[in-house]
Amino acid sequence: NNQIDQESLNAYEFLTMFYHHLLVHANGAEEAKQYLEKRGLTEDVIKKFKIGFSPYQSDVTTTLLEKKSFRLNHLAHTGVLSETEDGKVLDRFRGRVVFPIRNHLGKTVGFGGRTITDEDPKYLNSPESKLFQKGNILYNFDYARSEMKKLNQAVLFEGYMDVITADQYGITNGVASLGTALTDHQAQLLKRYVDEVIVCYDGDKAGIEAAFKAAERLKKSGIGVRVASIPEGDDPDGYLKKNGREAFVHQILGQSATYMSFVLNYLKRQYDTSIEASRMQYIEVAIRYIATLVKPIERDHYVRELANEYDLSVDTILGEVESKRQQHT
Ligand code: CTP
Ligand code: MN
Ligand code: MN
Ligand code: MN
Ligand code: MN
Repeated sequence: NNQIDQESLNAYEFLTMFYHHLLVHANGAEEAKQYLEKRGLTEDVIKKFKIGFSPYQSDVTTTLLEKKSFRLNHLAHTGVLSETEDGKVLDRFRGRVVFPIRNHLGKTVGFGGRTITDEDPKYLNSPESKLFQKGNILYNFDYARSEMKKLNQAVLFEGYMDVITADQYGITNGVASLGTALTDHQAQLLKRYVDEVIVCYDGDKAGIEAAFKAAERLKKSGIGVRVASIPEGDDPDGYLKKNGREAFVHQILGQSATYMSFVLNYLKRQYDTSIEASRMQYIEVAIRYIATLVKPIERDHYVRELANEYDLSVDTILGEVESKRQQHT
């Protein structure tokens, strides 16, 4: 059935407040509080994002839910709670810092739980369900929406902490795809609100590859794309805490690459351009990408850049680009 499962929604709402309350007030949450403090989050932002803590003893949560007349078996069935092989229903986030994941209406539809003791996995997320479909949700979309609209721009991050830290530093048009590849649905969602997205993923190999895919996806949806680059080994959260807002706005967002220069740069790194055959392969691929640009003036710009870089004739490259376009129309 496609009915909204009100009991699960109620449970997510209840747990959001319960976990948050525990984090802020409970004696047993000192370690979690210290962890977040060490990571530089302010009380304000912890409150705004309703960050919480799930108690170490997982039956605290289930006992409380039962007392509030929730049906534990139902919540296990819909994924709000987890169930062991021998049928015991548990809180899957026990002992973790919990980030509520809100849908576009601001309702919690899942959680991400981070270990505070380096346990594996680092993050444990609510399972996919009718309420929670990762590919349909952008983390923080509901809060970011008005600023996105106002700036006509969104910043796309990888994770919870990037979005939250950015918000703490006054960058409130940030959303995240939560560690999965950006879907067409998510791109369409952004397109309804902004003309431009700055992809701002982590400065590691995984982040750069994911940025390439996300940028292509966004471009295909007809959104203007820029790609920021974070210094190797860091991520937006870490960068902001080390370098502050000004540096992030000017050095990272301000220096973000256009879609095509990011793509060409990314592709170039896959070839050894000091070897002629390999260089030619790169030029072929580059021509194919340049040919996808809709505006003649943009094609012209990158054709010139490519021609200059490898000491080739502009006319020859432009001819190749235009003939590639003919093939596609
Ligand atoms: N992620 C996940 N499960 C994991 C690792 C990552 O769901 N085991 C998702 C989370 O949404 C996470 C995002 O992918 O926020 C980005 O992953 P990563 O860069 O590894 O984490 P950070 O957001 O940098 O988290 P932290 O700063 O807490 O280490
Ligand atoms: Mn602002
Ligand atoms: Mn990452
Ligand atoms: Mn990261
Ligand atoms: Mn991080």
